[in-house]
Amino acid sequence: MKILTHKLTVTTALVSTLMFAAVTAHAQPQAEVLHYWTSGGEAKAVQALKEDFEANGGKWIDAPVAGGGGDAQAAVLRSRVLSGNPPAAVQIKGPNIHEWAATGALGDLNAVGAAEGWDNVLPPLLQDIVKYDGKYVAVPVNIHRVDWIWANPEVLAKVDAEPPRTWDEFNAIADKLLAAGITPLAHGGQPWQDATIFETVALGLGGAEFFNKAFVEKDPETLKSDTMKKVFDQMRKMRGYVDADFPGRDWNLATGMVMRGEAAMQIMGDWAKGEFVAAGKKPGVDFLCLSTPSNGGYILNSDSFAMFKVTSADDNAGQELLARLILGEKFQETFNLYKGSIPARMGVATDKFDECAVKSMIDLQASSESGELVGSVAHEIAAAGAIRGAVLDVVTEHFNSDMTSEAAVERLAEAIELAE
Ligand code: BGC
Repeated sequence: MKILTHKLTVTTALVSTLMFAAVTAHAQPQAEVLHYWTSGGEAKAVQALKEDFEANGGKWIDAPVAGGGGDAQAAVLRSRVLSGNPPAAVQIKGPNIHEWAATGALGDLNAVGAAEGWDNVLPPLLQDIVKYDGKYVAVPVNIHRVDWIWANPEVLAKVDAEPPRTWDEFNAIADKLLAAGITPLAHGGQPWQDATIFETVALGLGGAEFFNKAFVEKDPETLKSDTMKKVFDQMRKMRGYVDADFPGRDWNLATGMVMRGEAAMQIMGDWAKGEFVAAGKKPGVDFLCLSTPSNGGYILNSDSFAMFKVTSADDNAGQELLARLILGEKFQETFNLYKGSIPARMGVATDKFDECAVKSMIDLQASSESGELVGSVAHEIAAAGAIRGAVLDVVTEHFNSDMTSEAAVERLAEAIELAE
């Protein structure tokens, strides 16, 4: 009887595989792709995906929502899902993937994952992000590092500045630049950009253990600690290093200021490198990539595409094709060279990657071995939804007011507690 049941299961599985193959064989793969990659470098990267998809017979329906960091896209996604019309593939990440999976909105990519051997080519860290209940529900595209300073070497040379190793050295350089009439920091005043700076300062002044205690464990003592006060003190200094037109500025326009020498530095993830590269600039010559001051550590961000449940055979075939292409070795190289990131897939050839990407690879390895690898809060890896929102609100309010560091840490602890 047991054998019979087993045979039956096998037969049913076989029949459904054959049926699926028959349906998808006639399907015209298509995918509506919701993303927020609209800057120069980002657009080149997403174009590479579109071209690969089309070259493999797919019909790409582009659905871009401008707005760095993805906050504008998140609202569009929610309303599309609520109205029962989700896009086939959506650029989301971190715990946000699990939150969507928990609502039952995401499809199952396990069959593609098994056929393509994803378990063997994806680092466990990324597998944890894109699997829910042991099943693949999304595909990672890349690994971005957040804790970078992008600097214009000619501008730094005007004040004889060496790369800063501590935040005090950073402040000394910035003060010299100010005295020379140069804007030290190119910045866009949007909550996610404020939080991007904030988390690099938190890692630098507190270290990885402090970072995780505060933002992952949400430990009230750590959130209100003297170290956190120092982080806000440094943020107050940063406020003095930006130009008067910073409010609302898009991140890529801030990158443009560094490129043109209108400001010395920008603190931003390595999607900023995509902008330099798209403009034909060379690392080490036209711009420098310096990790933000810290004693080791690496703030990780990783983009993924989640596949939402869709019913047509064409859409299902499109999702499968897209998922398969995204983790292909060649595509991982092409895409990440444009995007400024490093491959999500292990074992991709590194010879075409520049010195910034190689530094990212080395530091990623070292920090994961030393336990100093942390997930980004601003970019939704260590925290998503309400907790990330609480951090962004307090950081931005502090940045744009005369709130003291003492008041800021109280607000931070309170906002995080309320968000839980
Ligand atoms: C994303 C990047 C994107 C950047 C600016 C980050 O959160 O991970 O892919 O380029 O935001 O929009």
